[in-house]
Amino acid sequence: MAIFIDSSKLEEIEKYHKMGIIRGVTTNPTIMVQDGVSGGIKGIKGHCIKIAKMIEPLPVSVEVFSNERETMIEQAQEFSSWAQNINVKITIHGPNGELDNLEVINELETRHDVRVNVTAMMSAQQCFLAASAGATYVSLFCGRVNNMGYDSQEELTKTRELLEKFNLKSKIIAASTREVKNVVEWLLAGAHIVTVVPKFIEGMIIHPYSKETVQMFLDDGKKLTELLK
Ligand code: E4P
Repeated sequence: MAIFIDSSKLEEIEKYHKMGIIRGVTTNPTIMVQDGVSGGIKGIKGHCIKIAKMIEPLPVSVEVFSNERETMIEQAQEFSSWAQNINVKITIHGPNGELDNLEVINELETRHDVRVNVTAMMSAQQCFLAASAGATYVSLFCGRVNNMGYDSQEELTKTRELLEKFNLKSKIIAASTREVKNVVEWLLAGAHIVTVVPKFIEGMIIHPYSKETVQMFLDDGKKLTELLK
């Protein structure tokens, strides 16, 4: 697994998918608004189907945009029916701590055959409960955890230990990348996957000293061909 791309931009997804370095895509309503996805539910459907087809059979996460029990279940069933590789993001609880969501997650996974990515989590204890409820993915928002003054690497390590100790099948997605170095740090701390914004994937690849070295090879290659004339 390792790296997912945290974006709904078709050209960015295509670019890194063609390089063979991403293993999935995550989106959320905020990312879609920022990326200019429009056209209401019809537009979102068309866009998600394009992403799903492009990276098939790799997974794409699409988030429900309701916190009402029945609507979450309806949207989850609808979104996951758009393509076989679409899984559905459900937040760990509602904006005021409403507790319906874990039941919804369990119902989707066990009765409706919908794969769920539990999102907006800030701690190992939340991830442990989401995994216990049957989630396929548990998303720990590591950048936000750090922003609050806590240690996301500690939370990742604890989450991984708990999943292994209790034989839970969920995969940990470390999310909310804030710096290029987060990716390797979080993978080594216990994440199965880090979902990375496009600019940080580029940042992982490009190194100024590699640029200089490549230029040296090209310049000397030119000299060599001159000498061979
Ligand atoms: C991915 O699954 C998350 O939705 C995303 O990484 C959140 O990023 P943010 O904390 O920068 O909004």
